Amino acid sequence: MFETLKAQPADKILALVQAYREDPRDTKIDLGVGVYKDASGNTPVMRAVKAAEQRIWENQDTKVYTGLAGDPAYTNAMAALVLGDAVPRGAIAAAATPGGTGAVRQAFELVRMANPDARVFVSDPTWPNHLSILSYLGMEVVNYRYFDSATGGVNFDGMIEDLKTAKKGDVVLLHGCCHNPTGIDPDADMWHALARFCAARGLMPLIDIAYQGFGCGLDEDAAGLRVMVDAVPVAMVAASGSKNMGLYCERIGAAMVLGPDAASIAHVGRHLETLTRANYSMPPEHGAAVACHVFDSRTIWEEELNSMRARVQSLRQQLADALAAIDADPAFQALRHHQGMFSLLPLAPDQMESLRHDHAIYGTATGRINIAGLRSTQIEQVAVALRDVSQA
Ligand code: LMR
Repeated sequence: MFETLKAQPADKILALVQAYREDPRDTKIDLGVGVYKDASGNTPVMRAVKAAEQRIWENQDTKVYTGLAGDPAYTNAMAALVLGDAVPRGAIAAAATPGGTGAVRQAFELVRMANPDARVFVSDPTWPNHLSILSYLGMEVVNYRYFDSATGGVNFDGMIEDLKTAKKGDVVLLHGCCHNPTGIDPDADMWHALARFCAARGLMPLIDIAYQGFGCGLDEDAAGLRVMVDAVPVAMVAASGSKNMGLYCERIGAAMVLGPDAASIAHVGRHLETLTRANYSMPPEHGAAVACHVFDSRTIWEEELNSMRARVQSLRQQLADALAAIDADPAFQALRHHQGMFSLLPLAPDQMESLRHDHAIYGTATGRINIAGLRSTQIEQVAVALRDVSQA
C-alpha cells in the first residue's frame, strides 16, 4: 500500500546538516542549521542547565505524567518570560509543547479547528518549516512582502499593502525577534503600527518567538510582541527554549493563546488539550523541568546567554569589517545591522552552491547563513569566499 506514497522533498535545512556531515574536507564551515556554537565549534550544555539537571537527578522521585498542558509552573514561567506583564495570567491559555515547532503546529491546528477558512499570511521569506506545516495541514498561505533587497531592511510599506488583503479572522504569522531567515526585525514604530493595523482589521497575530535573547536581550527581544498582544483582543504565541536555553533535543516550547477573557480562554485551553491528546498524548517533561530550575537561577542563565549573544554580535561585526577590508560588494554590509543568528546574504542559489562546492562553506540555498556557526579564525576565509562567489 505504501507504493502510493509520493516521494517527499528532503527538508532543506536538515539536508544541509547531512551534507555537511558527509563532506570530508577539513576546511568545511557549517553556517547552515540555526544552532549556537562556541569558540571551539561546540554547542555546549549551558551551566544553568547542567546545574538544573543535577538538581532534578537528585530530587526527582517520579516520572509520572504531568498533565495535558504540562506543568503549570513551566507554562507560567514561559508566559512570564515572553509576555512580561503585558497580559494578565488569567487571560492566557498555555500548553507545553514539543519545541517551538510543536507550538506552531498546535496553534495552526487550533486556528483550523476554529475557522477552517482562515488564511495564514506569512513573510516572504519565512522559515521553510512554517510552509511545510501549513501545506501538510492544507491551510491557505498568502505571502506578504517583508525583505527589501534594495535597502537590506524591512519593506514595511509593501508588508502593510499586502496585509490589507487579509480578512477579519485571517492569521498574520510574525517572527517575535531575530527573523528567520533574514535577521531583519521591525523597529518599535513598525511594531506599534502593525499592532494598530491588526487590531483595527480584526487580524489574528501568531507570533513565533524562537530566538528570544539572541537579538538585544530577553526583554528587549519581546518588546514588539508585547506591544502587539497588548493591542489586539486575541493573539497566539509560539515560544521556544531550544536556542536560548540550548535545549534543542529536549524539545521545549509553549503554545499560548491570549485573551479576550478568562471564560473564553478556558474554553480555548481545553481545545489545546484535545489537540495535545490526539497528537502526542502528553508534552515532554524533562526539558520543561530543566527550564523551571533555569528560571529560578535566571541570573546565571542570563549571564551565559548574554555572553553567547555578545559573541554572535562580535562575529557579525568582524565579518562585516573583513568584507569591507577586501572591498567586497557593499550590499554585504547590511549584515552588520541584522539581529540574532541569521543573515540573508545578497547571493543567488547558484552562488550559495558555489560557496558550498568550491569553498566548503554551508549556508542555505536561499542565502541564509548562521553567524553563530562561525569562529574568529574562519572570518577571513569566509569573507574572501563571499566576495569571490559574489563576483563570479
Ligand atoms: C533553523 O532554522 O535552522 C532552525 O530553526 C533549526 C530547524 O529546525 O530548522
